[in-house]
Amino acid sequence: MPVSDVVAAPAVDQVAAPVHVAVIMDGNGRWAAARGLPRGEGHRRGVAALRQAVRSAGELGVKVLTIYSFSAENWSRPATEIDDLMALVKRFVRDDLQELHRAGVRVRVIGDRTGLDSEIFGLISEAEALTRANDKLTFVVAFNYGGRQEIARAARRLAEQAAAGELDPASIGTATLEQYLDTVGLPDPDLVIRTSGEQRLSNFLLWQAAYAEFVFLPIYWPDFDRAAFEQAIDEFHRRERRFGGLKARTGS
Ligand code: FPP
Repeated sequence: MPVSDVVAAPAVDQVAAPVHVAVIMDGNGRWAAARGLPRGEGHRRGVAALRQAVRSAGELGVKVLTIYSFSAENWSRPATEIDDLMALVKRFVRDDLQELHRAGVRVRVIGDRTGLDSEIFGLISEAEALTRANDKLTFVVAFNYGGRQEIARAARRLAEQAAAGELDPASIGTATLEQYLDTVGLPDPDLVIRTSGEQRLSNFLLWQAAYAEFVFLPIYWPDFDRAAFEQAIDEFHRRERRFGGLKARTGS
């Protein structure tokens, strides 16, 4: 089914859905190894699961879906695997961008763009420019992303402004720093899902996930389907969110 069909369809549980879901797509390599397949095949199946996740997000009434597609630390993997992953990202943008656009999906990329391969840089800019006015679902791709690096970049820009006399250091608070993060303008994630059974954040959305609920699923990313997405959202609804206070608040 094309993404456009489902993203456009009204969602049954639209009211109750978490607004922003962030996903750590872990376990592609182990999925492949368990089947005696090369790691690249795991990543290819991972892209298929990603397509389905974007559709499911639209169906389930999620407004922002963020995925951890390539971390700042992933460059330490073997060159052949990096080449494989880069080729998949390029192919994904080439094959899926028009369909995402037709479905009303806005694409936004977070992470450090300095020093990126010029082809990838161009595809990212094209995807963001084409879909800028869309508002059905915001699909945020964390690419060459690290939470610590993002906060350090924000701090550097604040320091530059303060040194230039354009900003009073005494006026800097959390709301000021947020204006300098890659995610400026986006709501914080309500729910962070990680597949593969690992239970850690791995430098993903360190600032933004301060009050997120975490759901760790014991399945590898290529097996993440609509049922798994619903299971994670059901678990989210069983949590009591207090945001540091005493009384439970419903919704996000
Ligand atoms: C984690 O599995 C997955 C990744 C590091 C990359 C995920 C990337 C994609 C699914 C495709 C590229 C993205 C786009 C936008 C098309 P792992 O390799 O760490 O698995 P393992 O822990 O089992 O080895």
